[in-house]
Amino acid sequence: MSRARFAGRTVWITGASSGIGEALALAFAAEGARLVLSSRRREELERVRAACARPDEHLVVPLDVTRIDAFPAVVADVLARSGAIDVLVNNAGTSQRGLALETSAEVERALMEVNYFAPVALAKAVLPSMRARRSGTVVVVSSVMGYLGTPGRSTYAAAKHALHGYFDSLRAELWRDDVRILLACPGYVRTAVAQNALGPRGEKNARADSASRRGIAPERCAAAILDGVAAGREEIHVGGREVYGIYLKRLLPGLLSRIVRKMKFSVTPSS
Ligand SMILES: NC(=O)c1ccc[n+]([C@@H]2O[C@H](COP(=O)([O-])OP(=O)(O)OC[C@H]3O[C@@H](n4cnc5c(N)ncnc54)[C@H](OP(=O)(O)O)[C@@H]3O)[C@@H](O)[C@H]2O)c1
Repeated sequence: MSRARFAGRTVWITGASSGIGEALALAFAAEGARLVLSSRRREELERVRAACARPDEHLVVPLDVTRIDAFPAVVADVLARSGAIDVLVNNAGTSQRGLALETSAEVERALMEVNYFAPVALAKAVLPSMRARRSGTVVVVSSVMGYLGTPGRSTYAAAKHALHGYFDSLRAELWRDDVRILLACPGYVRTAVAQNALGPRGEKNARADSASRRGIAPERCAAAILDGVAAGREEIHVGGREVYGIYLKRLLPGLLSRIVRKMKFSVTPSS
């Protein structure tokens, strides 16, 4: 039997043009939500909108999430057109494939802008309206990398770790206002994340990783996030056995360190 846990709810998804964001759009729409779909590529957002249930109910709002100066006007526009934002899914993100000592400061800054400062700023722009209504959920798509660091992902891991510190604090500040924060930590998911990752000089990695290819389907990740929102969870972990890294980091950090340092990272095309 199909469910409609989000009937009539407005759900704003960033990074909705591909991968996990696209799967979230399809899943929320299938459960009755009205969507606001954002990312930089309007034509891809239109493709996703057309594939969703009841496409005419959804808004396409192209947005580069690193342009945080635009957020007050964009949020006001979304609120005017939607009435309210019930769920904000901060999903847009960019991964990294580059050794720490080779990665330029510009690339480090760009990764922090998209993966950390953007979700923080968008949450801050949307939260006053949720507080006023004493209702709403902010989802933050973090990663297993929010708990540990692996070769080639130094700044990406740093940004995802930073999300946990920030949004755990924010959750504690907002609990009296009935606003919820869900940190979602996927392991490997089969998306274009590796192709879209930035190399040490800001170049696109442009090729898939075997780990991402073996990852779970984005639909499975999206389903876990919907369940987490519906249940009012504070954090979810979803993926394959790499998710156990989160528990090893807490319980057996020395063992995890020995495993991680053996992980191969190479920037040669044959990797
Ligand atoms: N796939 C995995 O294994 C995995 C694991 C853990 C966590 N995650 C996280 O999941 C999230 C989604 O990634 P994905 O795997 O679905 O990768 P993806 O297929 O590369 O999707 C990334 C999305 O982010 C959007 N985006 C990137 N930069 C943006 C910007 N400046 N402004 C607006 N939108 C931007 C892209 O849209 P446009 O290009 O149209 O702007 C795209 O829709 C990310 O936060 C990622 O860190 C992924």
